Amino acid sequence: MPTPPITAALLLLFLTAPVISWRPWPNSTASIFGASKKFEGSSEFVKLQYHMGPVLTANITVYPIWYGKWRSSQKRIIRDFINSISAADSKPPSVAAWWRTVTLYTDQTGANISSAVRVGAEKNDRLYSHGKSLTRLSAQSVIKSAVSAATRPLPVNPRSGVYLLLTSDDVYLDNFCTDICGFHYFTFPSIVGYTLPYAWVGNSAKLCPGVCAYPFSVPKFIPNLTAVKSPNGDVGVDGMISVIAHEIAEVSTNPLVNAWYAGGDPVTPVEIADLCEGIYGTGGGGSYTGQMMNDRDGATYNMNGIRRRFLVQWVWNKLLNYCTGPNALDQ
Ligand SMILES: *[C@@H]1O[C@H](CO)[C@@H](O)[C@H](O)[C@H]1NC(C)=O
Ligand SMILES: *[C@@H]1O[C@H](CO)[C@@H](O)[C@H](O)[C@H]1NC(C)=O
Ligand SMILES: *[C@@H]1O[C@H](CO)[C@@H](O)[C@H](O)[C@H]1NC(C)=O
Ligand SMILES: *[C@@H]1O[C@H](CO)[C@@H](O)[C@H](O)[C@H]1NC(C)=O
Repeated sequence: MPTPPITAALLLLFLTAPVISWRPWPNSTASIFGASKKFEGSSEFVKLQYHMGPVLTANITVYPIWYGKWRSSQKRIIRDFINSISAADSKPPSVAAWWRTVTLYTDQTGANISSAVRVGAEKNDRLYSHGKSLTRLSAQSVIKSAVSAATRPLPVNPRSGVYLLLTSDDVYLDNFCTDICGFHYFTFPSIVGYTLPYAWVGNSAKLCPGVCAYPFSVPKFIPNLTAVKSPNGDVGVDGMISVIAHEIAEVSTNPLVNAWYAGGDPVTPVEIADLCEGIYGTGGGGSYTGQMMNDRDGATYNMNGIRRRFLVQWVWNKLLNYCTGPNALDQ
């Protein structure tokens, strides 16, 4: 992806959190959206297809691995978000209603993605076991350490587990900030001993909040763009929430990268959240986030969860053929 000069439209490209593609937003899709007159995604050109692989249909358990220094207040925001996915009694527009678009996806037998998502066992890696600069492979080694630890190892759950590697704001991973804010893939048996769906999301607060915690922070070199107030008082973590949401939605619908994606090339699949990157509300598209909401303190959000509010990007609705979210004004 291009680095500066950044424009608001290019910024959108930077916000992406892809799967294996080393680029966030395959340029073919970017050009489609750039050219499209439609908002909230485009149905005409998107051919999202099912490639016969498994999806996560059993109750999903997310295992957070806290790499580096994490405050308990930060962990609570992230745990509350993940547990909000199944909190059907949250006030609308809710995170649980957002997830209902993800449960529209099925496997070969017609089984839907599970509507149950919860936080499972957690692991702390406070002493940066693999250093402060990770690669995609050393990220897998961190997961191996977590599932093979001498004390309280994480359970091995290849069928319905999602291993969520979260790195603190002083940790870099290859292509963080320039190309990606997070990604998902599966672990290699040769490194970890098992094939486990996993995702990585980094706290960008120190490295690139204007890129990965947008719109709670904005790049200084874009004129007339002002940051909005984040809903939980932590720009880096509030910014991670949408990336975590993006990755959990994609890992659930494409855990082994052979299930739901658009585009002919499995090396750079365009998945259900990639298609809606940067869209948080009605009218979103291009460089516009769409209609969001403000709470009494002036913080910006678009959905409610357990104890909190969150700003979460929309996902692709395969029945409607456009991006949808619970705060849509016309649904
Ligand atoms: C995508 O970018 C690559 C490298 O910049 C280029 O070779 C390729 O033609 C582009 N593809 C499209 C569809 O624009
Ligand atoms: C799956 O989750 C649902 C809803 O939380 C729960 O009622 C059910 O017992 C769970 N099933 C299993 C096998 O854990
Ligand atoms: C399961 O998926 C089908 C096909 O997309 C959809 O019609 C149905 O509403 C889904 N069921 C649930 C419970 O999400
Ligand atoms: C940016 O703001 C300045 C001062 O408010 C204004 O004069 C200028 O037209 C704005 N530029 C754009 C591109 O909106």
